Amino acid sequence: MARHLLKLEGLDEAHLTSLLDRAAGFIPAARGEAEAPASLRGRLVAQLFFEDSTRTRLSFEAATARLGGRSLSLSGVGSSASKGETFLDTALNVDALGVDAMVVRSSISGGADLLARNVRCAVINAGDGRREHPTQGLLDCLTIREAFGKISGVKVAIVGDIANSRVARSAIHSLTTLGASVRLVGPPTLLPRSFAQIAARHDLVSITHDLDSILPELDVIMMLRVQLERAAGGGIAADYREHYGLTHRRALRLPAHCIVMHPGPVNRGVEVDDDVADDGRRSQILRQVTHGVAVRMAVLEESVGRTDRVR
Ligand code: NCD
Repeated sequence: MARHLLKLEGLDEAHLTSLLDRAAGFIPAARGEAEAPASLRGRLVAQLFFEDSTRTRLSFEAATARLGGRSLSLSGVGSSASKGETFLDTALNVDALGVDAMVVRSSISGGADLLARNVRCAVINAGDGRREHPTQGLLDCLTIREAFGKISGVKVAIVGDIANSRVARSAIHSLTTLGASVRLVGPPTLLPRSFAQIAARHDLVSITHDLDSILPELDVIMMLRVQLERAAGGGIAADYREHYGLTHRRALRLPAHCIVMHPGPVNRGVEVDDDVADDGRRSQILRQVTHGVAVRMAVLEESVGRTDRVR
């Protein structure tokens, strides 16, 4: 049984599939339409968010509550981090409170690994700098699997700020392990040459700077936010939408079955036009959020759940 969830890189197909199967079973409970087992009864989960979050934080809290566990929540602002306490010291102190797991988001690439090497409790990565966001990768896979009944052979484009995106990295690892083909699309500033080396090593990954040329061949188009907080090229270029935005006109060139995804928060009118984001036929953006709760239930249960799965 895996205790920590630090990254999707290196997780094999069987493990990813078992997490997705477990999460799929939790979708009704995630929506409040079915009872979940009380498999976290008596468990304390620290939610440590040193970077801003809406969906990830609330869905980890919702997942903990749905399974009968309790959350202790801490953010950078309002904690002793603002008095200069280090990231590791904070985590060691939270561990000493006796928590069973800590969910951690920080701007430090490798931050969750650092904690996992030093604390007693289970560590779940909720986004570490530019590196990985494993539960986001899982919820993206669950959304694609639900839409197409499979992941293998599905053609996915990931569009935008690839260089700074932990969402893209987790999606690339999980989707390719499950057999999807992934096209990385973005301007050269946000999709640097180092990604060409990744693509050269992996026959399911390719890169292009020309979004328009690939639209008609896609099953999934996953749009990313430009990560201004990670100094993404100094800002959003004035012509970003013109070349890389999923505009109304571009959406018309997608196949009818192609779904639109975005991890949120969406910059409406920059990476996605309003009517595309709100198109109930194509847009999976809110479905992804629901899947986030189910996936986090699966991850927490696997990590610290009671094996007797009390009801
Ligand atoms: C993402 C993140 O924080 O990495 N958001 C999320 O967790 N849903 C993506 C982003 O902030 O752009």
